[in-house]
Amino acid sequence: MSDGGAAGRMLLTGIGELVTNDPSPDREAGPLGIVRDAAVLVEDGRIAWVGSATHADEHLDHRAEREDRREGDEHRSIWDAEVEVVDAGGRAVIPGFVDSHSHLVFGGDRAAEFAARMAGQRYEAGGIRSTVAATRAASDDELRTRLAGFVAELHGQGTTTFEIKSGYGLSVADEERLVRLAREVTSEVTFLGAHVVPFEFREDPAFGGDADRAAEAYVDLVVGEMLDACAPHSRWVDAFCERGAFTAEQSRRVLAAGAAAGLGVRVHGNQLGEGPGVQLAVELGAASVDHCTYLSDADVAALASSDTVATLLPGVEFSTRQPYPDARRLIDAGVAVALASDCNPGSSFTSSLPFCIAVAVRDMGMTPAEALWASTAGGAAALRRTDVGAIRPGMRADLVELSAPSHVHLAYRPGVPLIGRVWKDGAVVA
Ligand code: NIG
Ligand code: FE
Repeated sequence: MSDGGAAGRMLLTGIGELVTNDPSPDREAGPLGIVRDAAVLVEDGRIAWVGSATHADEHLDHRAEREDRREGDEHRSIWDAEVEVVDAGGRAVIPGFVDSHSHLVFGGDRAAEFAARMAGQRYEAGGIRSTVAATRAASDDELRTRLAGFVAELHGQGTTTFEIKSGYGLSVADEERLVRLAREVTSEVTFLGAHVVPFEFREDPAFGGDADRAAEAYVDLVVGEMLDACAPHSRWVDAFCERGAFTAEQSRRVLAAGAAAGLGVRVHGNQLGEGPGVQLAVELGAASVDHCTYLSDADVAALASSDTVATLLPGVEFSTRQPYPDARRLIDAGVAVALASDCNPGSSFTSSLPFCIAVAVRDMGMTPAEALWASTAGGAAALRRTDVGAIRPGMRADLVELSAPSHVHLAYRPGVPLIGRVWKDGAVVA
């Protein structure tokens, strides 16, 4: 994967509403730091300047004059010609979405399981094992081709930074392969060996049907040989701390071992019921605890007094017919909230953050501005990234033009393809 930006300069102008996520006194009030009739200057893949379109010309002239003084008059026209001017035609421009939670390396799908759920069946974490079987059966190239398709799908929906977790391999060789393939397309790779206890451990006669002993033996493997194989390709470690997956003690062992190997901590918790996931995440200083659907008052208070982001995944509740998490309660308590897709073949097979925004606004008590912030700056906070999620000088030029005059349309026009041109590191990707 490439971290380099597009060479050269681009002036994106004629922006009717620019969402910067950079509140400052000359901007409209609110976290989005909106500038009307705006322009953005991009140089070598980074944001060089942001402001009113009227001032852009002055800025360009000023730059050109500086070049003149250095190089002589002739250089001025060359410099001007080098600036590609792109007109947004009065549309809104927002930061590229930052999707801080996905599981995109897998084989097969579970459409039949989804249909059965819509006919009344409950979601069980155990469905993960059927994707494990399909993933193990797929070749590297099959997984790679599938992944390339998902990356194009993400870009087409305005997502320019995305995290990918392993968790459908659950053997040393298969987990290593998943993080290695994920690393080919993103630097945000999470080792999730502790997703569920795989079939061969659960069914091993050596454990005599004792699920706890099987889980302990599997955790021994995760914190040993599997972590050694996966850590070199990963930035994060995660554990599914939930009834039916791993206990708080087992999750703590995995997360602490990952942290000792130099990985940042994230946690899947409080998805299917109240449980220890949130408290464990806060105790370990996790960057994020994801799902947060069932929270006690003590969980909300712990999050509010921590640096751990609460990442909400509305695609899951949509697709498992569970109640949505209460974003309003978290925001009112002062918790930093992110929205992410959790794109995976079981609980949430959507890669669309505009869809998540629409649901969060309709059913989770978020305003359109809060939902947009959560899926851009919030996602960046959940990944502890300071170079994405906002449009500010020095940051990566990850920009999305909407086919709409305002960010509010993302929730106001659900299901309508509103993503126009998308730039990542200053280069057009969709
Ligand atoms: O984040 N919660 C655990 N893991 C995934 C579900 C994966 C699956 O059902 O395949 C999630 O929802
Ligand atoms: Fe997940």
